[in-house]
Amino acid sequence: MPASQHYDVVIIGSGAAGMTAALHLANTHKVALLSKASLNQGSTRWAQGGIATVVDPEDSLEAHIEDTLIAGAGLCHRDTVELVVKESRKSIQWLIDQGVPFTPAEETADTLHKSEPSPLPYHLTREGGHSFRRILHADDATGLAISETLTARVLQHSNISIFEDHLAVDLITRHKLGLADQACVGVYALDIKLGKVQALAAKAVILATGGASKVYLYTSNPDGSSGDGIAMAWRAGCPVANMEFNQFHPTCLYHPNAKSFLISEALRGEGAKLTLPNGEPFMQRFDARCELAPRDVVARAIDHEMKRLGLDHVCLDISHQDADFIRGHFPTIYQRCLELGIDITQEPLPVVPAAHYTCGGIVTNHKGQTNIPGLYAIGECAFTGLHGANRMASNSLLECVVYGRLAAEDLLDKLASFKEAPELEDWDESQVTDSDEDVVISHNWDEIRRFMWDYVGIVRTDKRLERAQHRIKLLQSEIHDYYSNYRISSDLLELRNLATVAELIIRSAQLRQESRGLHYTLNYPETAAEARDTLLTPDRW
Ligand code: FAD
Ligand code: SIN
Repeated sequence: MPASQHYDVVIIGSGAAGMTAALHLANTHKVALLSKASLNQGSTRWAQGGIATVVDPEDSLEAHIEDTLIAGAGLCHRDTVELVVKESRKSIQWLIDQGVPFTPAEETADTLHKSEPSPLPYHLTREGGHSFRRILHADDATGLAISETLTARVLQHSNISIFEDHLAVDLITRHKLGLADQACVGVYALDIKLGKVQALAAKAVILATGGASKVYLYTSNPDGSSGDGIAMAWRAGCPVANMEFNQFHPTCLYHPNAKSFLISEALRGEGAKLTLPNGEPFMQRFDARCELAPRDVVARAIDHEMKRLGLDHVCLDISHQDADFIRGHFPTIYQRCLELGIDITQEPLPVVPAAHYTCGGIVTNHKGQTNIPGLYAIGECAFTGLHGANRMASNSLLECVVYGRLAAEDLLDKLASFKEAPELEDWDESQVTDSDEDVVISHNWDEIRRFMWDYVGIVRTDKRLERAQHRIKLLQSEIHDYYSNYRISSDLLELRNLATVAELIIRSAQLRQESRGLHYTLNYPETAAEARDTLLTPDRW
């Protein structure tokens, strides 16, 4: 007997995007908020540098727009950039109203930045591509501050039902139920602890599942960044765009005991220098903006030097700065490095680039709507056109809170006119058995991440992409067989999604016969005169 639980809106993902949308909706609507881990385990929790908005009186919306367009290498959608920059102040004020403890100006401004008075009483830092100090931050743990503040608000809300450790498997559309239209009416979710799949029905569903950087062997992202939302949307019939633009952050800590630890670009914003292990600076040979060039430029320069000299890392040195300043501004990074035996107030630290951010994603409009009625996508899983061929630092948290609100506002306007979701069928497990060979899953996880790193990384060639395409086809058919015959687990579901996303990235990279922003290929080193998005649609696949 089917017994789906019914909500007004199901939100899949509890990062900055999902929680912002939930809090904007919950005063008047019943919301289910899903996370495949605990509420604060997405990338949001790990964000360091901060969130961008125009505060300095010398700065301007136009300058923020222009910097974003330049970093995006000609591929940003200007209308989206203008929208997000114009909405930024309102969204950040909302975060402040929720209680996010941004670092106040008085702690540092009097001593450090007297020439930069700010009408918002917060300290502003700087990152690559920004022509002004315009990054609000909570020391070097901005994401943690946002995540903890919003989590506390969500937990207080009686209209928000929380489903932690629930992994969304697939979207349910009316079409899949044999009904006439395409609208999205819910989701199947695996209760990871109980191993049972349940159906959650809703008038609308929001995907806020974060990025897909886990598709690469080395990444700054937490384990959950397996591109689930992008893969689910693709299976449901949504176009995706610009998947070839995966951003590699130039500086992750290189240490055998440090898994995925980012060294914020804000260090470079505060004067840290990149050097070779012998202490020689090198960024001046690549770009006049040196350490504060956009990320694609810096990551490529590091990759170039590592390959040229056969290095396993380069170094980042901020030890010339005052030790109290370093400890005060970067307490998390200072502490983590110290635990690993590196005192950043005294010595350089070893760094390497790592996959960091998915610039492409599910195609959405200015309200977060996808092409499927009732289905929205926000945050890192969405493609809005904001980031173009390379996201500028600290524009992602901003996109999450702006679109979290815009999508919610659209739903507040429209939900009353949406149909009630029908009763959903139970998940059918009658044709599958328990897996007898879980090693297939872990082996395939590893294989995908390795060949994506080797063949679809910072520097690409046609041949490498062909190799990757060949391998992903084989793996996908193996994964498909496995999925059809065995009972699902979270590892299998993430592997299946990772494989889909890998295929989308490879295919998009093959279609882009030029070098632009984060996509650099030795076969087409020039940038084409005309900037075009790479659009893939499931039907034409
Ligand atoms: P996330 O915060 O990643 O949350 C995704 C959510 O979806 C999680 O709750 C997860 O459990 C859930 N989920 C995923 N799949 C499923 C599924 N199948 N079923 C159920 N739930 C699912 N950006 C900035 O602007 N400034 C910064 O300073 C900054 N620093 C960063 C530092 C690090 C180390 C990293 C990794 C990223 C950083 N970024 C930064 C990028 C930014 O943090 C992310 O892009 C942003 O937080 C993404 O938020 P989100 O809400 O879209 O997704
Ligand atoms: C960082 O702190 O370097 C990350 C900032 C970002 O990804 O926007």
